[in-house]
Amino acid sequence: MLDFGGQYNQLIARRVRDLKVYCDLKPCDMTAAEVEKYAPIGIIFTGGPNSVYGEGAPRIDRRILQLGIPVLGICYGAQLIAHTLGGEVEHAETSEYGKREFTFIKRSPLSENIPEASVCWMSHTDRVVSLPAGFEVLAATPSCPVTAFGNLAKCVYGVQFHPEVVHTEYGNRLLENFLYRVCGAKGDWTMANFVSEQVARLKEKIGDKKVLCAMSGGVDSAVAATLVHRAAGKNLTCVFVDHGLHRKNEPEEVVSVFRDGLGMNLVKADAQERFLSALAGVSDPEKKRKIIGAEFIKVFEEEAKRIGAVDFLVQGTIYPDVIESGKGKSAVIKSHHNVGGLPDVVDFKEIVEPLRDLFKDEVRRVGIELGLADSIVWRQPCPGPALAIRIMGEVTREKLVTLRDADAIFREEIARAGLERDIWQYFAVITDSKTVGVQGDFRTYENVIALRAVTSVDAMTADWARIPYEVLERVSTRITNEVKHANRVVYDITSKPPATIEWE
Ligand code: XMP
Repeated sequence: MLDFGGQYNQLIARRVRDLKVYCDLKPCDMTAAEVEKYAPIGIIFTGGPNSVYGEGAPRIDRRILQLGIPVLGICYGAQLIAHTLGGEVEHAETSEYGKREFTFIKRSPLSENIPEASVCWMSHTDRVVSLPAGFEVLAATPSCPVTAFGNLAKCVYGVQFHPEVVHTEYGNRLLENFLYRVCGAKGDWTMANFVSEQVARLKEKIGDKKVLCAMSGGVDSAVAATLVHRAAGKNLTCVFVDHGLHRKNEPEEVVSVFRDGLGMNLVKADAQERFLSALAGVSDPEKKRKIIGAEFIKVFEEEAKRIGAVDFLVQGTIYPDVIESGKGKSAVIKSHHNVGGLPDVVDFKEIVEPLRDLFKDEVRRVGIELGLADSIVWRQPCPGPALAIRIMGEVTREKLVTLRDADAIFREEIARAGLERDIWQYFAVITDSKTVGVQGDFRTYENVIALRAVTSVDAMTADWARIPYEVLERVSTRITNEVKHANRVVYDITSKPPATIEWE
């Protein structure tokens, strides 16, 4: 897929992969020679915010259209095909945005098994008004006479609407038609294939050399380590730093799943005391983050020294990280993570990133394929500094206990209500307010616990989760009854923006 910067581009790639066809998002300035070398079975030109007549608007190497590789242009991608090959694109007075009914005028492989009239999702200002030689109109709406077009002999197609969004009734079928009927895809992109190919590739690469992996307990590092473990066995050593800031039972679970269950060589570095004393007296959130990051590197360095030189360092980089940090060029390090500085302190030769081609949902599917438990595969994202940024102000041992217990109750009740997979992140926060309460016959002056739960697709924006009142009530009753030093519970009803997901 050549990326022209549209808002739905990652979604197109995911849809294609869901149809069992591997799809890679590449910069739109890829040359025809590069495309030829890559040898895709088909190319999709994505949408984008530009107008083909705009200054600096992205163009394509027109020879790409002469390689004999099937092409599907979507929105801007379609306009670009028309424009590049000598058709005409017009700037309309008003934008067309939303659902439209369109009709197929001429049938093609693209429209197989799609009714003559159906609904599509439009989002454009420019539109194609005349087609290049060899092309014909395939579909139209009353306000957009060239809704779909194609050169059937050359297998080049363009659609003005967005087949990737759910509002386009038969969008998925159209993509499927392009992949299977036009490009001749085999549908061999499955997670089972991915696992067997990747394990074989890793075996060949690693041989009997030594591999090191920082295990955070999160989904990405867990799946990456398990995959590498299949290939490297005891030559893989995983280091799990127990900084004492994890959620309840997390360190125990990591040990029981990976060391006891899978038989991994797992080193657990018990560094709770070190982190707590480094954090003593510090309440500024950024300072806390920096201290934790630096301490993490120090602990890891000590463990790595003990292990000695290794050949490979495993990183749980996933595809969105690769795309974000350089549009498909390279992403070596997850900067948002505490593991960011590891390459500097480990004596290794090469980084291994077995998940760098996968979207998050694919990583989870690989995890399932590898037999990892749901509690690991469906784990919600947890920030590197973990509970330290969910304790407002100074981190103390007492507050950690209170927060851990309150958080565990919240998680249990969300699970019991079957809401785990509907909510992106849900956790408790210990605020730095104390309020008065009456518990039993006593007046208390204790901490306020805030509950935060959000829905999101990528953590860039988020909405507060509409958790049923009964669930909130159970959580509140249990926290105020079962947790020490908590006498009040509040629910955060702020979206992001303006608030962030975390409180610090
Ligand atoms: P915010 O709070 O910025 O969070 O809306 C967006 C996402 O990032 C996570 N987050 C972090 N992750 N180190 C991390 O590894 C951090 O310092 C950090 N701060 C926030 C947060 O949990 C959410 O998923």
